[in-house]
Amino acid sequence: MSLTDKSEQILSKLPPRLAEALYAGAQRIPKVRRMLESEYEEMLAAAPLEQPPGEHPTFARMPEQGLPHDEVLGAVEALADGEKDNWQAGRASGAVYHGDSEHISFLNEVYALHSQSNPLHIDLWPSGMKFEAEIVAMTAAMLNANAIDDNIVGTVTSGGTESIIMAMKAYRDRSGMRHPEMVIPDSAHVAFDKAAHYFGYRQVRVPVGPDYRADVDAMARAVNRHTVVVVGSAPGFPHGVIDPIPELSDMARERGVGFHTDACLGGFVLPWAERLGYDVPSFDFRLPGVTSMSADTHKYGYAAKGTSIVLYRGRELRHNQYFVAPNWPGGLYYSPTMAGSRPGALLATAWAALLATGEEGYLDATKRIMETGAAIRGGIEEISELRVLGDPLWVIAFASDDVNIYEVMAKMAQRGWSLNGLHRPPAIHIALTLRHAEPGVAAAFLSDLREAVAAAKATGTEPQTGSAPMYGMAATFPARRAVGELLKRYIDKLYEVRRG
Ligand SMILES: Cc1ncc(COP(=O)(O)O)c(C=O)c1O
Repeated sequence: MSLTDKSEQILSKLPPRLAEALYAGAQRIPKVRRMLESEYEEMLAAAPLEQPPGEHPTFARMPEQGLPHDEVLGAVEALADGEKDNWQAGRASGAVYHGDSEHISFLNEVYALHSQSNPLHIDLWPSGMKFEAEIVAMTAAMLNANAIDDNIVGTVTSGGTESIIMAMKAYRDRSGMRHPEMVIPDSAHVAFDKAAHYFGYRQVRVPVGPDYRADVDAMARAVNRHTVVVVGSAPGFPHGVIDPIPELSDMARERGVGFHTDACLGGFVLPWAERLGYDVPSFDFRLPGVTSMSADTHKYGYAAKGTSIVLYRGRELRHNQYFVAPNWPGGLYYSPTMAGSRPGALLATAWAALLATGEEGYLDATKRIMETGAAIRGGIEEISELRVLGDPLWVIAFASDDVNIYEVMAKMAQRGWSLNGLHRPPAIHIALTLRHAEPGVAAAFLSDLREAVAAAKATGTEPQTGSAPMYGMAATFPARRAVGELLKRYIDKLYEVRRG
């Protein structure tokens, strides 16, 4: 039995805090540490480290003479071609949200025209700020900014995580506290943890209710005089369910704290789903307690990767996001987001995606995704070994009491499907995109899922296939710090230059 197995046996019997403390203590013993290191190595050797398919030259240092453009382009093209099948046929959860080749070519054309643009140099590229201001205005209008007042402002960021990080910075700086608190449902995106880590927050994660939605009473009890922001998701990443934003934001308003709706996933879907007649609870600026939101253009906004919008009720909050340096020897410096230089081309691309898709385009895309969601959810519900978690629309999580769900995920991977593994409870999800709305994809998913469940059942309750055993162990291993250490070593592995 390995040290990890042995420790799992012992630690799993202990309360989580004690397990962590014991693990931390044991790690300080050099011999134990060496044994753990060699076990990490062993586990990582068994972990799948994807390589681009085919033979590709490896470069650990620059060629002395620059290579001809054709040769470099050929290498880049070969890498892209080898990966197309991974996402184009609709077998991945989320990842590529539009993916139609004509749409991609259009975005690429726009990108190419602005590839040198940097809004940091406003004098050279004033178009960058035009794009950004208009993207923010269009997104705010979509999220009903004008229904209550027109004081909704924002910025474009590099993605959902940066939007969330920026909003949390704004609340912290506005409060003037060194260690403010955020109250978030346990289902909130890990970007809030990142923000807490960077900005010195104490994070209060509140367990969700049996329907996987935020528990309003429990969240209200967690708010105290240090709380500066309460969070809800529309919908949350793990289970795709929408938190009770009206109740949460009213509660935050009554307690005099900010409220952030994380609509990174749903911001460009729910407004259109509501218009199509789906039962969408309010989540946007029509609710007076909602003081900030995040919505990702690089997901269901169908832009190129690398943009999201963060919005605030009022300039004061946005001011607290900005960074200004009036005394730098390098000159008067200001920057709205984390980055210094920013890719103006991505602003152009997001602007172009909004204009080219238009309201009709988003309505049509949303209709297709909602219909695919209903078909896939219905099909999963018909598989007796599986149960859908909560009441989702298009990000559908499911678990099982009869088969090991990570084994099902591994069996689906053998059939070409890349799904997301979830923890607490063990489950998997698929985030549906326009790729899955293509003819035949939903039917193929359900048929493969039925097969995968039957195959997993045949292997018994212990996960056996591919990464399933490691995933299962990592999901349940009581000393979470050890899992964190393993993940850091995994990232190291990804940075190794691998011979083709
Ligand atoms: C609800 C939610 N919030 C935030 C994020 C973070 O977005 P990104 O990966 O663009 O940083 C995601 C990503 O899937 C998400 O689903």
